[in-house]
Amino acid sequence: MVEALTAVVGARHVLVDPELTGAYTTDWTGRFRGAAAAVVRPADTDEVAAVVRTCAAHGTSIVVQGGNTGLVGGAVSAADQVVVNLQRLDAVTDVDPSTGQLTAGAGVTIARLHDAARDAGWDYGVDFGARDSATVGGSIATNAGGIRLLRHGDTRRQLLGVEAVMADGSVISHLSGLEKDNTGYHLAGLLCGSEGTLGIVTAARLRLVAGTDERVVALLAFADVTTAVEAAWTLRHDLPTLDAAELFLADGLDLVCRSLDLRRPFPEHHAAYLLVEAAGTSDPTAELAAAIDRLGAADVAVATDARRRAELWRYREAHTEAINTVGAPHKLDVTLPAPVLAAFFDEVVEAVRTVAPDARTWLFGHAADGNIHVNITGVDPADETVDDAVLQLVAARGGSISAEHGIGTAKRRWLHLARSPAELAAMRAIKQALDPSDLLNPAVLF
Ligand code: FAD
Ligand code: MLT
Ligand code: ZN
Repeated sequence: MVEALTAVVGARHVLVDPELTGAYTTDWTGRFRGAAAAVVRPADTDEVAAVVRTCAAHGTSIVVQGGNTGLVGGAVSAADQVVVNLQRLDAVTDVDPSTGQLTAGAGVTIARLHDAARDAGWDYGVDFGARDSATVGGSIATNAGGIRLLRHGDTRRQLLGVEAVMADGSVISHLSGLEKDNTGYHLAGLLCGSEGTLGIVTAARLRLVAGTDERVVALLAFADVTTAVEAAWTLRHDLPTLDAAELFLADGLDLVCRSLDLRRPFPEHHAAYLLVEAAGTSDPTAELAAAIDRLGAADVAVATDARRRAELWRYREAHTEAINTVGAPHKLDVTLPAPVLAAFFDEVVEAVRTVAPDARTWLFGHAADGNIHVNITGVDPADETVDDAVLQLVAARGGSISAEHGIGTAKRRWLHLARSPAELAAMRAIKQALDPSDLLNPAVLF
């Protein structure tokens, strides 16, 4: 099989030495550690199709991979699987500045996509902390959310069409970018969020959003979580230029400042923090200041220049890497209905303490979307007791067990908490129809 794969992509792009494959077989957190028969790096759609046919002929299943920043173990392979990494499909083509669309290869990073969109006088609506490594293909496969979702929606909202290699090696391509196109099943929408189980995305036609160059960031401190959460909802209603509203807590801020050697933002300690960004074509500072006045914040820091804005963002975005310094975390990314969101903060800490008294629970997230990242350290990577406690609580409160990271391999045990037997049967039927041999990501979702 390795010889056949080498004939397709060239020897440089078939890795079998564990020293070389290691970076592709361990996830970003270090919680999920796999192995691989080979890591293959095709250069274009034809090569991806040939790789799929080769693996199918040898009865070897495939794990699809982009930037390997996923947080639910979905891109981590086993020793008898082949990793198909899409990073070399990194072309941005057919940029149309008049309609605000472009075509991006699956391996284009989110940061590069933003640059390409800005070069065309537009912007891309999805953004998140892993932007320098996460890819267009991975973000489509996971339907990534991120920090601008409250304004521009999730990845599916940006998606006009995809090109993908299916499990039988055929290529579907729908990249015309017609805004209105009701011609049967929306295959792009189906592949989006399917986590590599239905097809390998090789390119996408993406909708861009109007550029908003005037930006202001404010970090607000609050005496309690409830006031901070309510402030996020209020801003969402009152401030049309609101671009992001991100929440974190006192212990998370302490950890970030300690592990990254950052100066604290305020002299006093506060229970909860909300990082907000407003953006428009004219300066939104006065509008943001007026909205903030009504929120009852205990302290406020405002930044208009790019360097200071980035410094404030660092307190929020560095949570992921700071938590990793404590130990491989269990990452549970959940959404709660608005009425129970604030109470959930105490409830989840208690639920974890009950089953793992020595564990630490770190909470932060996209407050205005009801999306909280529950990170737990001090627990063996394989021990799923805390995962169960958190996800059962979320289900009992009417929330979702995956807000934006997906199910991957990490949460498949709990998928029944989120989907009815009829829904699961429909999902299995789709998988069976498009990938009857279970060739693509067989351990993901089901
Ligand atoms: P990978 O990790 O390589 O793969 C993820 C999944 O997609 C796997 O199941 C894989 O098999 C599948 N896949 C990858 N490429 C393809 C393809 N071309 N075709 C079909 N399937 C494919 N996520 C958010 O939603 N919001 C955030 O705010 C956010 N912030 C993050 C911050 C940090 C610091 C980190 C490390 C991660 C963050 N993530 C976030 C998670 C992650 O970045 C996203 O899930 C991202 O979309 C994954 O992209 P990737 O290219 O790294 O995919
Ligand atoms: C975030 O919002 O920072 C990400 O989704 C990453 C994480 O959950 O750690
Ligand atoms: Zn997130």
